[in-house]
Amino acid sequence: MGIYFEEKSRVFTLQTKHSTYQMKADEQGTLLHTWYGEKTDNTDLSCLIARWDRGFSGNPFSVGGTDRNYSLDTLPQEYSCFGTGDYRISALKVENADGSRAVSLRYAGHTIEKGKYALCGLPAAYGTPEEAETLAVELADADSGISVRLLYGVFEELDVITRAVQITNGGKEGVTLLKAASLCLDWQTGDYDWLTFHGRHAMERNLQRTGIAHGVQSVGSVRGASSHHYNPFVMVCAKNADEEHGDCYGFSFVYSGEFLMETEKDQIDQTRLVCGIHPDNFAWRLEPGESFIAPEVLMTYSPQGQGGVSRIFHRLIREHVCRGQWKHSRRPVLVNNWEGTYFDFTGDKLVDIARDAAELGIELFVMDDGWFGKRDDDNSGLGDWYPNEKKLGCTLKELGERITALGLRFGIWFEPECISIDSDLYRAHPEWAVAVPGRSPVLSRNQLILDFSRKDVQDHLIERISDVLKSAPITYVKWDFNRSVCDKYSNALPAGRQGEMAHRFVLGLYRVLETLTQAFPEVLFEGCSGGGGRFDVGMLYYTPQIWCSDDTDAIERLQIQYGTSFGYPVSTMGAHVSAVPNHQTGRVTPLSARGCVAMAGTFGYELDLNRLTEEEKEEIRGQIRTFKELYDCIQYGEYYRLTSPLSGSCTVWETAAPDGSEALVSAVYHHVQANPVPVYVKLRGLDETASYRIRLAGAPEGQGQDERQTEHKAEEIRSGAALMHAGLLIPPAKGDYCAWQLHLVRINQ
Ligand code: GLA
Repeated sequence: MGIYFEEKSRVFTLQTKHSTYQMKADEQGTLLHTWYGEKTDNTDLSCLIARWDRGFSGNPFSVGGTDRNYSLDTLPQEYSCFGTGDYRISALKVENADGSRAVSLRYAGHTIEKGKYALCGLPAAYGTPEEAETLAVELADADSGISVRLLYGVFEELDVITRAVQITNGGKEGVTLLKAASLCLDWQTGDYDWLTFHGRHAMERNLQRTGIAHGVQSVGSVRGASSHHYNPFVMVCAKNADEEHGDCYGFSFVYSGEFLMETEKDQIDQTRLVCGIHPDNFAWRLEPGESFIAPEVLMTYSPQGQGGVSRIFHRLIREHVCRGQWKHSRRPVLVNNWEGTYFDFTGDKLVDIARDAAELGIELFVMDDGWFGKRDDDNSGLGDWYPNEKKLGCTLKELGERITALGLRFGIWFEPECISIDSDLYRAHPEWAVAVPGRSPVLSRNQLILDFSRKDVQDHLIERISDVLKSAPITYVKWDFNRSVCDKYSNALPAGRQGEMAHRFVLGLYRVLETLTQAFPEVLFEGCSGGGGRFDVGMLYYTPQIWCSDDTDAIERLQIQYGTSFGYPVSTMGAHVSAVPNHQTGRVTPLSARGCVAMAGTFGYELDLNRLTEEEKEEIRGQIRTFKELYDCIQYGEYYRLTSPLSGSCTVWETAAPDGSEALVSAVYHHVQANPVPVYVKLRGLDETASYRIRLAGAPEGQGQDERQTEHKAEEIRSGAALMHAGLLIPPAKGDYCAWQLHLVRINQ
């Protein structure tokens, strides 16, 4: 297996198929980080450390008199500490009982076990003893009694290493953790860029690539959730790394709350990355004997550029994060009524939409916001999770039965963590809303936050949601969260523990989600936070898909889904075909383009189907047939970004079956040109020695799908080698936002 310990040199080497990770407990007991990257052998790489005397980089007392070359300020370290001679960004900052802020860790032992560790109350990647191994390294601060257990999960085949940290107060007095990061990683050599994903509501996960320069750079969230604004996924890559080549590392924080990912290039050009819970809203009291768990970070290294890292993350999330019945079963093609009706619906209206849906081949009907309490706009009702039978014209059970009688599944929307001031729940429990005593809280969408750090609040929501789910034939839940959190204060915590509220809120959310997903295993949960405001691996542990963005414009979605694909697989990205003109942008795109883009996700529709023409309905039937036919290739295929939506005229991506037996190439022109410059792409993931039949996806054998076909040969046969090494010419645009879906099937020779 992949974890090696060399007794004499105290070197730990973690080997995966294509990467090596190494650390060493040195003669002082400091846990040095000596390597992460290209695969090498178990050689002790501390030989690469330049241990030279540097002014203003002090020496630990234990070596000070004799060895001025030894400084924590420059040594690459596995878990850096604040206040004891390392002046760079730190992973651990502790306030001791005497008010001092100093901690210093030394090696105290380790264990190696088969299987992957789990984290109590927190999401984490999982694997069998055949798939993963765990290393736990114990570090201790002799002065305070604090001990730190660094956890490493090694997925050898997958090229993934996970990290998490458990901090225990073994001293006699209470201490406060002011920062407890999950990962600290030092690179002694190399000059790097990092890729971060920023955004806003309705435009999430825009790729930004910047150099890691001297000084500290960071992305993070203090909004209570991981946020639309920065995603807790980053890549670090060599300057020359691109989509297909070069050293590239990926880091994904398995956490849905406030996070910070920081980089620093130090005085001797070493690079440090620290990831963890954001320290701004964090101060965790640890009484003697108590422990704190810092959530998990997933890491990978690939010499095959950003695409290589993405494909590893796609597999990791699909196979070792998403759980339950819906992990591998086919997710239903859905229709959601939000953009079709907004709040303005009755039970009959919904059934009318569902009738058309059934006739088109749609498999799930989702009733969005507005079915409960007093909720005809977004100013009231949140918290009152009782069906509004007057509006529905029947009970929830009856509505569910009318929909399931049509052959559809029935799904429903909740926003459990929020509360309207105009709600019965708020009138009964104003103390459950998050607010600082004596201050008026910030309103957002005219709503407040429920204090999910409280057990009574969690229990209430578990009970309410369970009752609703039991009351009707519901097999899908959309779990929304429509504002950022501020005014952080919990009435259930003493003054000295208010710094725990933001993290306890997330732990509360996880407890509620864990309880409900275990109690209702047949229900497919889809995460959402005003679209993609909480799109992170933590949520994916409970909800195997997440609504990607409230922006359903197909052209904007090209960019959003492109950015999202760096860290997350197609099977997690909620994507729907909506009406034109698009409600967010006013843009008119052809139905074929909308279908093509939504198929690069968990496919569905979000419009009033009753308003469609017969031709549109026919086209939708075809889209659904195509999606169902190509489901495995799309959802489980290897994903390749062939061009970027940020440049050029056409975005092209490919999913190829892992065995090379088929592939789908999707292309959408976002810029139509007279006398166009041709678009060429080199395909990936094919069998070089085989031939492929290429035809328009969805077209019957030997026949075109629509009039575009007349200009494109019905069928072609080409070798895998030619497609991969010489390339493929994308057919030209025939008007605005033209989309092509080319299906390649290997021909048996
Ligand atoms: C959020 C979601 C939407 C919809 C509305 C309902 O904005 O992202 O899809 O559910 O809430 O209020």
